[in-house]
Amino acid sequence: MNLKYNTDLGGMNTFRMKVKAACLLEYDSAEELSSLLSDTRFSSELPLPLFHIGGGSNLLFTGDFPGTILHSRIRFIEPVEDGDDVHVRIGSGVVWDDFCAWAARNGYWGAENLSLIPGEAGAAAVQNIGAYGKEAGDIIESVECLDIQDNRTVVLKGSECGYGYRESRFKNDLKGRYIVTAVNVRLTKKYSPDLDYGHVREALAERYGSAVIDERRLTPAQVREVIIDIRRNKLPAPEETGSAGSFFRNPFVLPEQYAKVAKVAEKENLGPVPHFPGDDGLIKIPAAWLIEKCGWKGYVEGNAGVYRNQPLVIINATGKATPDEILALESKIVSSVREKFGILLRPEVEHI
Ligand code: EPU
Repeated sequence: MNLKYNTDLGGMNTFRMKVKAACLLEYDSAEELSSLLSDTRFSSELPLPLFHIGGGSNLLFTGDFPGTILHSRIRFIEPVEDGDDVHVRIGSGVVWDDFCAWAARNGYWGAENLSLIPGEAGAAAVQNIGAYGKEAGDIIESVECLDIQDNRTVVLKGSECGYGYRESRFKNDLKGRYIVTAVNVRLTKKYSPDLDYGHVREALAERYGSAVIDERRLTPAQVREVIIDIRRNKLPAPEETGSAGSFFRNPFVLPEQYAKVAKVAEKENLGPVPHFPGDDGLIKIPAAWLIEKCGWKGYVEGNAGVYRNQPLVIINATGKATPDEILALESKIVSSVREKFGILLRPEVEHI
């Protein structure tokens, strides 16, 4: 375990906010976490509140954190093959993309579209991370947790996790109570690429030739490579520019709201409104488009900015942005989108 007081969190959040935590506790196994938290002499000394982080890639620390940051260092990838199926148990502290790379290397399908998403496996299960037509919840069979209220191990089936678009029960009714210690996913050796999102198919055909797709000869590693390239072109390189990926969720709106947006677009000559069908008759309008049409793409003010290739991403433009600068930019973007289109953007990034 690693226990530190008054520690700098700059290296533990991809936004690179220079904030401190009163305490940081990293643990190496579910058993260790359980025994630490049940040892009342130890746990009663920990500053409160407790807050669990993964790779710190979907967070905005809005100031110093007065409590204890928990972080998993449970790191194993344990596969069991069963015919074409491959059941994989992943420790919550495994870097998600290390798992995706491992799966692609072994020729297993299922995780390739989720390549290069920053963060760790535990957070992937909480956040239901998604990209290029796939979500973590699509491959999760079950999630192993420690219930810190009753100090017992609980295994939730994937179907019990309440997965939706960037949603799960771990962010709602189970928040602060269940800590994910391992994630069980199902991959497959059976040929099953998922190429229907955006330009994934075209990008693959361009790189490897369309015969590879027509003759069903693609490999998960090839899909992974193309996904990585698409991401690198659109999203800031985490080692160069601080950000937390998409800052806002894509809004799902009623047909009447969509019609209003289309009217504004027509009046102001903004071109066709991109939209995709969602559940329950709702329509998804990309937040990136709404933000771009409000003129924010590539905008920088002080140390905070909007990424030039993907306006859904707020960046720490100089590396010196303060939480207040990011929050000020966030609220200006939200107000302008609401004023122009009547849509209230909701942040995807958790504010702490
Ligand atoms: N768009 C613009 N301008 C831009 C970029 C995009 O108008 O500069 C519009 C276009 O209409 C485009 C549409 O937005 O077709 C969708 O863009 P993109 O495919 O880049 O995806 P996104 O909806 O903006 C979501 C996820 C990303 C994920 C991509 C790819 C959310 C909040 N974001 O973004 O996830 O990588 O799809 O699947 O759902 C993240 O969560 O941190 C993240 C990066």
